[in-house]
Amino acid sequence: MKELVLVTGGTGYIGSHTVVELIESGYEVVIVDNLSNSEASVLDGIERITGTRPALEICDCTDFNQMHAVFEKYGSIRAAIHFAASKAVGESVEKPLMYYRNNLVSLINILELLKEFKSKGFVFSSSCTVYGQPEVLPVTETAAIQPAMSPYGNTKQIGEEIIRDATHAGLPYASIILRYFNPIGAHPSAEIGELPLGVPQNLVPFVTQTAAGIREQLSVFGDDYNTPDGSCIRDYIHVVDLAKAHVIAMQRLLENKSAEAVETFNLGTGNGLSVLDILKTFEKVTGKKLNYKIVGRRAGDIEQVWADPTIANDVLGWKATSTVEETLASAWKWQQKLSAK
Ligand code: UD1
Repeated sequence: MKELVLVTGGTGYIGSHTVVELIESGYEVVIVDNLSNSEASVLDGIERITGTRPALEICDCTDFNQMHAVFEKYGSIRAAIHFAASKAVGESVEKPLMYYRNNLVSLINILELLKEFKSKGFVFSSSCTVYGQPEVLPVTETAAIQPAMSPYGNTKQIGEEIIRDATHAGLPYASIILRYFNPIGAHPSAEIGELPLGVPQNLVPFVTQTAAGIREQLSVFGDDYNTPDGSCIRDYIHVVDLAKAHVIAMQRLLENKSAEAVETFNLGTGNGLSVLDILKTFEKVTGKKLNYKIVGRRAGDIEQVWADPTIANDVLGWKATSTVEETLASAWKWQQKLSAK
């Protein structure tokens, strides 16, 4: 019988790609999503790719009673991957209480329900934001956690602590914390991808929308950083590579292979690329000229961060394999499909 996995935020960007990989690896999936930042039509794309339409419960993870009803309805939820969260750094500064409520109350609810229903595993979406500006690059999982630079970042730090405390207190399940670097790109089929509502905050959706003529001009936030070309450096990872790591984490939990009750892994490529590298590579891959200008720094940006993914490579046997060219091409294919609608 297929094992049933709950995916909160499963109609979102990373969630939907992970649902595809879970289904293709033989899991049964139930998605919980309040559709605050995604659309139910994402299920059509998932179904076209996999031939399976996952169950969707439209429900807010901060509502304990509704979530309890979902666990009761499905009965045998073996594990959960918790993507559902608010993630706009700037908005979190404006609305901190909303961020703490959305990101932390939902987490506590799910941990409590996994315990009540005797599930085996929990996978949490964390972020390289917990490292702030690391002193040593590439950054390893043992690097110091820096004071958070935004309420959003703080919800990831506090979330990790809640998971460690709860899991160490003897819950019936083990947890895996995945620290994402910068996920970009889309499924190669272009059936699913990132669907930013309104003006994109992240670099690559802004790039693709500029190339498509939806945005007139792209702003590069700063060229006076202490980096080779002066723009910020990040570790951009194909969302499908990232999604695959979740399946491996899930298998590890369900097969009791975890070495510790809580394990933490960096999910990145190990390569740092600047904003200008991304723009140049995008232009090369797509043949499109990007209209961009250099503007001032964006408040709260980290100068440079990229992952040391050795532990994920060795322990999970997972490695990001897509090139940045393939990844940017997939983002562009998805944008062209959206623009044609
Ligand atoms: C940020 C958060 C990260 C969070 C993610 C979720 C920080 C340090 N990181 O990632 O924790 O998980 O958002 O959305 O807050 N850029 C431009 N022009 C643009 C947009 C971006 O030059 O129009 C630059 C940024 O200055 C940055 C890079 O592109 O150097 C990547 O930006 P973005 O895609 O927003 O990701 P992060 O800021 O790294």
